Amino acid sequence: MSAPAPSAPAPAGPVVRISGLHKSFGEREVLTGVDLDVAQGEVVCIIGASGSGKSTLLRCVNLLEQPTSGTVEVLGVEVTDPDVDIDRVRAHVGMVFQQFNLFPHRSVLDNCTLAQRQVLKRSKAEAEAIARKNLAHVGLADRADSMPAQLSGGQQQRVAIARALSMDPALLLFDEPTSALDPELVGEVLTVMRELADEGMTMLVVTHEMAFAREVADRVIFLDAGVILEEGPADQVIGNPREERTRSFLRRVLDPTHVDEVTGTDA
Ligand SMILES: Nc1ncnc2c1ncn2[C@@H]1O[C@H](COP(=O)(O)OP(=O)(O)OP(=O)(O)O)[C@@H](O)[C@H]1O
Ligand SMILES: [Mg+2]
Repeated sequence: MSAPAPSAPAPAGPVVRISGLHKSFGEREVLTGVDLDVAQGEVVCIIGASGSGKSTLLRCVNLLEQPTSGTVEVLGVEVTDPDVDIDRVRAHVGMVFQQFNLFPHRSVLDNCTLAQRQVLKRSKAEAEAIARKNLAHVGLADRADSMPAQLSGGQQQRVAIARALSMDPALLLFDEPTSALDPELVGEVLTVMRELADEGMTMLVVTHEMAFAREVADRVIFLDAGVILEEGPADQVIGNPREERTRSFLRRVLDPTHVDEVTGTDA
């Protein structure tokens, strides 16, 4: 068991600093040199075609994948240092997955208290109070005693966000948080994410929701073949991209009648 994580210190530098990040799976080099800083309170959206390495990049930030080379610092701590206490780092980095990843046999409240108790060593009463506050924050105050299967996908994803928030994260990572949802449920999740952004949460978001990225992101990154091909303010990268590959990607995702590997759907 690791020591209790301290509350996240206010960093002088960026919340995340990624330098020279490479990641290979066997012979296949998926990330080929990524440099990225995310400042406190910044919302950075990562866009790019299927297979371009977006999930791999996010997963290297909290070491769900071990980088092949390069460094990742979170709150000034080099998480790629072999001696680092990764549980301590992960306590500050929340992650929200496409498939929610709730514990199916635990109540909503339990899902939001387990890590608080195990990692942060909070008492049951304190963890439950914090969980209930965050469930209220995502509009689910009355569902604490439900089981995940009794909720819609949008509600389950909001539980996953409340669970992440209950750890007092310095940073939230989102990997296509709305891609598994029926279209009518996407809005409620994006609304919660927009509110978090407005409250100053630092967020790194992989998304195909270009309208959301354009409205909420401080910066958009276009990942292509394992490198950041283009980055800048959302209006520039999405509205007036410099690179032809960014333009062709955006044509594909923004054309609702286009069916290809980017959206995987013609819905
Ligand atoms: N654990 C793994 N083992 C082997 N190859 C992997 C592994 N994880 C990812 N890859 C490969 O790395 C490449 C990038 O995958 P990644 O999941 O990061 O892409 P992505 O941009 O998130 O794509 P998508 O939009 O489809 O989610 C793909 O070719 C994928 O097959
Ligand atoms: Mg992915």
